[in-house]
Amino acid sequence: MGDFFYGLTDWLRTTFLLDWAFWIETTGFNQVLVTNFWGVPLAQVMHIIGIGAAFAATLMLTLRISNLAGGARTVPEVSSRYMPWIWWGLVWIVVSGLLMLWAEPVRNMINGVFWMKMLLLVVTVLITLAFQGAVRKSATASGPAWTASSGVKVTGWLIVILWCLIMAHGRWIAYAPV
Ligand code: HEM
Repeated sequence: MGDFFYGLTDWLRTTFLLDWAFWIETTGFNQVLVTNFWGVPLAQVMHIIGIGAAFAATLMLTLRISNLAGGARTVPEVSSRYMPWIWWGLVWIVVSGLLMLWAEPVRNMINGVFWMKMLLLVVTVLITLAFQGAVRKSATASGPAWTASSGVKVTGWLIVILWCLIMAHGRWIAYAPV
């Protein structure tokens, strides 16, 4: 695994990303984030708050679909309650992530673990969009008695596992070879 990320980082170093990272380091906003002691920690705290909100909402929706929580409300009710937290939480995560990226561009831009995390994020967003569309359609069509098929339940838990993988990569970024 280490060799894979070493190789990936070595390749990333030969791309335009390194020059782009060096350019970011010359920008005024990078200096604001780096020279003020509150810069990076504030972005990290924002990131963790966004993760907490969006992941908790994802978990609550998956628990309801699996009939493990919140049985008093129908699935359409639960999903309309938690979906805004998932998507606005993700917007907040992306904004705080970009702040951390801008503060430490070299460490992140040519970091194999960071780009693996971004790939996992794109896959997770695409699966979540398809999943939420399918749940909303079938749950609304079938009414309050709707119960999820095992395929829908498994997909819900797959999304939860993908979130955990993204979080592990997020923490790993700081320890990856660059
Ligand atoms: C579902 C989405 C995401 C999750 C669950 C996630 C999770 C995490 C976690 C758990 C950390 C470690 C935080 C810490 O220990 O302080 C982290 C760090 C980080 N994340 Fe994310 N992240 C997500 C999306 C993003 C996005 C979209 C970006 C960039 C646009 C990003 C950029 C970063 C950066 C640069 C770090 C800092 C690494 C470091 O310097 O330690 N993340 N992320």
